[in-house]
Order: sequence, then C-alpha cells, then structure tokens
Amino acid sequence: MRLYVNIDHVATIREARKTDEPDPVRAAVLVELAGADGITVHLREDRRHVQERDVRLLAETCRSVLNLEVAAEDGVVEVARDIAPFQVTLVPESREEVTTEGGLDLVSSHVRERVAQATRRLQEVGVRVSLFIDPSSEAVRASAELQVEAVEFHTGEYAHARDLGEREREVTRLRHAAALAVDLGLAAHAGHGLTYENVAAVAAIPELEELNIGHAIVSRAVFVGMERAVREMRVAMDRGRRGLATGTQG
Ligand code: PXP
Repeated sequence: MRLYVNIDHVATIREARKTDEPDPVRAAVLVELAGADGITVHLREDRRHVQERDVRLLAETCRSVLNLEVAAEDGVVEVARDIAPFQVTLVPESREEVTTEGGLDLVSSHVRERVAQATRRLQEVGVRVSLFIDPSSEAVRASAELQVEAVEFHTGEYAHARDLGEREREVTRLRHAAALAVDLGLAAHAGHGLTYENVAAVAAIPELEELNIGHAIVSRAVFVGMERAVREMRVAMDRGRRGLATGTQG
C-alpha cells in the first residue's frame, strides 16, 4: 500500500508569515527520504497555502511522484495541465470551508459535466485522474462512467464517527465501495482525517492501494521536532553570548 504525504500545512505555516520558511519543497525531500511513495499538495483557488510556484518546483524536484489536488475549475485545471504531474485528484472546493468537506457530488449534472471536462483536459496531456468521492456505489459507478483511472474515498465520515458502531458501518461502506471500484476497473485510494490511531482499519482494506495523509503527519512532525528545534536555538544564543564575552561574534 502506498503512502502519499500531503504537505499543504507546511505551506500553511509559511503563509502565516508570508515568508519563505518552512519551504514545502524542502519538506518533500525529507518526506521522500523517510520512505513516502508520493507527495500530495492541494492548489486551492484562494491559494491559502500552496502556491503555484511550489507546485512547479515540486514537479521538477520530486523523486517520487506528485499528486496534485485541484477543483474541477478552468483556472486550476489549466495550471495542472501545464505542470502535468503524475496524478491529479479532482476535489470539490468551496472558499468557506476549512478543509475539503465531502466527495464530489457526481449526481449533480452540473458537477458531472465539469468533472468530465476537466478529466478530458487532463488525460489529453497524459495525467492520471483520480476523483475524490464519498464511499457510495452511486459515486463509484458515476466515476467509472467518466473513465477516470482512480477514485479516492473520503474517509472523513469514518474519522469523525462518534461511536464504535458508526465506525464499523463506515469501514464496511469503505470496504464495499473499494471492492466495487476495483470490479469496475478503478484503482482505489482513500484519505482525509486519517490519524495514527484510526489508520489501521482503513489500511486493512485489501483493495485500497494508496492513502493520502496530511494533517496528522505534519502535526506529529511539530512535536517530534520541537525539542531539537529549541535546543538548536539555545545553542545559537549561547554562541552569541560567548562572542560577547570574548569580543567576537558567532
Ligand atoms: N485527500 C484529499 C483529497 C484531501 O483534500 C485531503 C485534505 O487536503 C487529504 C486527503 C488529507 O487529509 P488530512 O490532511 O486530513 O490527512
């Protein structure tokens, strides 16, 4: 099973200061060195975290593969066509949401038409297309009709289940949807809200071949890196103090 790491929130921290660190391109190098199979970023229409320049640099520097998430909207689809990453995952997007809140509504003919058009435009330039959908048989069948290569199941309902019963029902839904996807010739991926605590049951679904995980990994990275980061600042300060005592700097 492949792990693609979503590094959007490295860019979220950078954009909080509109500066140049932390750099998602540097993060991607570390993510790959740690054994991830791919890098995922979401180029949102409001560019709240990842910028177009990041995506272009990542496309050039990734040693693994780049999975670019975009809405099925002309502007970002044209950027995606121009960059032509290994895979584009089409996602629903609204400006008010904090994060992607559900799968593509392929029952709506308007959405279906936009997704069909975006899929054609991307496949024309050799990009593999995945659709971010809810784990329902209707959404899987609609995706197969659109002749995409893959679907990514939104695991938000599973991740936010309030009790064990609901959680088991969601795992069953994911399992059935993944089996149907594979039957219909689609690769099955999953992601959203997966954590160190809840990932195992999803990873145990044999038909799923790729997980996209972001927030939990970036959050954990803050903590596993915090002690060292503070110690390094202490060393930098102490070096300055020693220079004060000896009349030198650094
Ligand atoms: N997959 C898709 C399509 C997403 O939009 C996101 C969130 O950007 C993820 C996976 C990762 O979700 P999380 O950050 O909760 O792990």
